[in-house]
Amino acid sequence: MKILTATEKPFAKEAVNGIKQIIEEAGYEFALLEKYTDKAQLLEAVKDADGLIIRSDKVTSEVVAAAENLKIVVRAGAGYDNVDLKACSDKNIVVMNTPGQNSNAVAELVIGMMIAVSRNCFTPGTGSEVSGKTLGIHAYGNVGRIAARYGKALGMTVYAYDPFIKDKAVFEKDGVIMAESPEELYSKCRFVSIHMPANEQTKKSINYSLLSLMPKGATLINTARKEVVDEESISRMFEERNDFRYAADIAPAIAAELKEKYPNRFLSTPKKMGAETAEANINAGLAAARQSVGFLKDGITKFKVN
Ligand code: 3PG
Repeated sequence: MKILTATEKPFAKEAVNGIKQIIEEAGYEFALLEKYTDKAQLLEAVKDADGLIIRSDKVTSEVVAAAENLKIVVRAGAGYDNVDLKACSDKNIVVMNTPGQNSNAVAELVIGMMIAVSRNCFTPGTGSEVSGKTLGIHAYGNVGRIAARYGKALGMTVYAYDPFIKDKAVFEKDGVIMAESPEELYSKCRFVSIHMPANEQTKKSINYSLLSLMPKGATLINTARKEVVDEESISRMFEERNDFRYAADIAPAIAAELKEKYPNRFLSTPKKMGAETAEANINAGLAAARQSVGFLKDGITKFKVN
């Protein structure tokens, strides 16, 4: 059986070696497609694969149709909005993610971006410190929890809101104050960091009605997905408030315009950088390889999402 690792944005070399070793030790064939520039390359490579390991690579219905032997897709990472779950389920293909494996890398980037925008994106002028300020964590999952801990270590007062956590004790044990609603979170926090997946409920949900509630020095940090932020609301916030700042891990469509107009208050990465560390690649990549082998050999479906 063949397990293909298809990564348009490649893993670190050490991670690739580790994935190869796990797959070959299990007696399977290892195949690699990296830095591909055309989806035709993926369609060709996936044809005879039994397993597929990906990052943010798009597994569309077309990819699923081309993959004649495919039994499992493992997204080495948390968000699986890049996988057509229905197309996979219709062909009895199991889809998994590797939750938590790259969370620390993303949480570290939250802190890095928060400090960078607070220092005027390294343009001349006086910046401000984050210590003593309020940090709001919107969605308290693996990344949110670590970002909260780092925020506290920096001397910030940390609030969190999560629609799926109603028990205050979950937050209190981490020294985090529970916000009862997104509105409360945005009203109380100068910095808000978002950590929800992109889905029908969350797309464009970070909008003007929430952002305009933020106090002076309002700063939004998005290391989640660009789709969850309403870009028109971002433009409006920048136009109306000269204190508003936005740091985005992956450039929004309006990035060039924002960079030109507000170079000291807007920061974005050209490609998603949150999980771009050797450690995160190794953690997520090796977990994906183990999960692929575990499923193909023993039918283990832990972390199945469809
Ligand atoms: C994730 O969902 O795990 C992160 O966004 C990382 O995505 P990447 O593997 O494409 O860097």
